[in-house]
Amino acid sequence: SMDRLRAEHAALRERITAGDAKAVERQRGLGKHTARERLDMLLDAGSFTEIDQFRRHQASGRKLTDHRPHTDGVVAGSGTIEGRRVFVYAQDFTVFGGSLGQAHAAKIRKVMDLALATGAPLIGLNDSGGARIQEGVLALHGYGGIFRRQVAASGVIPQISVVLGPCAGGAAYSPALADFTFMVRDTAKMYLTGPDVVAAVSGERVSHEELGGADVHGGQSGVATVVHDDEESCLADVRYLVSLLPANNLDPAPRLPERGAAGDERPRLAELVPPEPSKPYDMRDVVAELVDDGDFFEVHEGWAANVICALARIDGDVVGVVGNQPMVLSGVLDRAASQKAARFVRFCDAFAIPLVTLVDVPGFLPGTEQEHAGVIRHGAQLLYAYCEASVPRIQVILRKAYGGAYIVMDSRSIGTDLSLAWPTNEIAVMGAQGAVDVLFRRDLAAAADPERLRRELVAEYTEQLMHPHYAAERGLVDDVIDPAHTRAAVAGGLAMLRDKRVQGPRRKHGNVPL
Ligand code: COA
Repeated sequence: SMDRLRAEHAALRERITAGDAKAVERQRGLGKHTARERLDMLLDAGSFTEIDQFRRHQASGRKLTDHRPHTDGVVAGSGTIEGRRVFVYAQDFTVFGGSLGQAHAAKIRKVMDLALATGAPLIGLNDSGGARIQEGVLALHGYGGIFRRQVAASGVIPQISVVLGPCAGGAAYSPALADFTFMVRDTAKMYLTGPDVVAAVSGERVSHEELGGADVHGGQSGVATVVHDDEESCLADVRYLVSLLPANNLDPAPRLPERGAAGDERPRLAELVPPEPSKPYDMRDVVAELVDDGDFFEVHEGWAANVICALARIDGDVVGVVGNQPMVLSGVLDRAASQKAARFVRFCDAFAIPLVTLVDVPGFLPGTEQEHAGVIRHGAQLLYAYCEASVPRIQVILRKAYGGAYIVMDSRSIGTDLSLAWPTNEIAVMGAQGAVDVLFRRDLAAAADPERLRRELVAEYTEQLMHPHYAAERGLVDDVIDPAHTRAAVAGGLAMLRDKRVQGPRRKHGNVPL
C-alpha cells in the first residue's frame, strides 16, 4: 500500500542520512565532522537539496558484492550561501573511507555538470582515502573525468576546494585545479605519495603533517590558498569568499550599495607609510584603510608574503588588490611572489574583477637561488598575467618602483588604465647611488675628490630623474595625488572604468610561460 511504501522510504532515507553510528563515532574521534554536518555549516539553513542519495556502486568482489552502502561515500547536491546558488559535494569518510569509485565519481560529475550548465560556483569538500582500490582503473578513470570537467569549467564558474581530511595521490589534483584551496590544520593532508612510499623509495622518514599538512601547503608549497584551525572557521570563511565572487564569468560580482567613497578622505594613509623609501610598514594596513569596512579576503597569507593579494570591496564593488609588502623581504618580487600574484591576477581577470595594484617595490630578489630556479620564467608569468588582463586596472605608486619590477607591477606600458602616484613616488631604472656608479665610474675614478663628485652627481640625478612629477610630466602617471585622497581617487577610477571592454585577438590561447 501507499502508506507502507512511504513509511519504508522515509525509514530508509533516515538510515542513510544517519550513517553508520560506529563510523560516525570514529570520524568524530579523528576531530572531524560528518559530511552532512559540514554541508550544514557551509550552506544557508535548510537550503540543501541532495541528489543521488540512493546511488550505490555496482561493483562486485570480496566485501563489495554484499556491501553496497547508499550515497557511495559522497553527499552531493545544491544549496545557497547568503541566498546565492552553489553546487556542492562532500566526501563521506565514514563510507569506504570516502574513497572514490565509479558511482562516487559519477555523482561528483553530475553536480559539476549542473554547476556549469547553470553558471553557479562549485564547492568540493574533500575527505577521502583516494581512488577506491577495489575498483581499479575505473576509479582512476573517475578522477580523470572530474579533472577534465574542472579544467573545462576553469574561468567559467568559481571552483573552491576544501580539504578536511586525507587527499592523497591523484586526488590531490582536484584541489590543485580549483581556484581556491582551503585546508584545516591537523586533519587535512595532501601529497602525491604518502610517508610510507617516501620511506620505501628514499629512506626519508617524515610524518603526514610534515609532508603535506596545512601549514606546509599554506607556507612552503603554496598549494593551499587559505589555512584554518578548525572546520567551523574554515567553512565560515568559504561563505565569506563566496559572498565576494560572481556566480560565473558572465555575471558581475555581487555589488553592495555605494559608501560615498568619492568624498572619503583618509588622512591616516599618509601616516601609515613612512616617507623614507626603504623604511618598512605593513601594506595590509594600507589595504584596510582603502577598502570598505577594512575587510578583505587574503589569499596565500603565509606563502610569498612579500606580495599580498586580496579580494575586497571599494564603494560596494568587488576588487582584487595586489600590493608589494615592504614588511617582508623589503617587498621585493621573487619566484613565489610572482607566481602568487600572477595566478590571482588571472583569476580576477577571468571573473571580471577589477584590479587595484599598490606599488612599493625595490626590484626583483637577486641571487643564484632565484636565478637558477627560474625567476625569469616566474616573473614573466606575472608580466603575462597583467598584459593579458582586460578588466579595469588601476595602479597606485606609493613610494618606489624600480626597473623591471616597475614594469611588471601594472605600469602604463603594459596596459594599466589609470596610474596614480603619491608625492613620495620614486620611479627609475635604479636608485641614484647605483645609477651614478654605472654612468660615471671613469669620472669618479679620475676625480680629485670622488666622494664630493659622487654627492653632486647623486643630487643631480635625484633632482632631474626622481622628482615626484617626473613620470606625470611624461604621461606615464595620470595624476599625482595626496595620499589621503587615494580611496576617493580609486573609487572614482573604478566608476570611470566600469564599462571597459576589450576585444582580444583571435587565437586558440596564448602560451603563458608556466
Ligand atoms: N580504497 C578503498 N578503501 C579505502 C581506501 C581506498 N583508497 N582508503 C581507505 N579505505 C577504507 C579502509 O579500508 C577502511 O575501511 P574499513 O572501515 O572497512 O576498515 C576505511 O576506508 C577507513 O580507512 P582507514 O585506513 O581505517 O583510515 P585511517 O584514518 O587510518 O587512514 C588513509 C586514512 C587515507 C591514510 C588510509 O586509509 C590510506 O592510506 N588509504 C589509501 C590511500 C591511497 O593510497 N589511495 C590511493 C591513492 S590514488
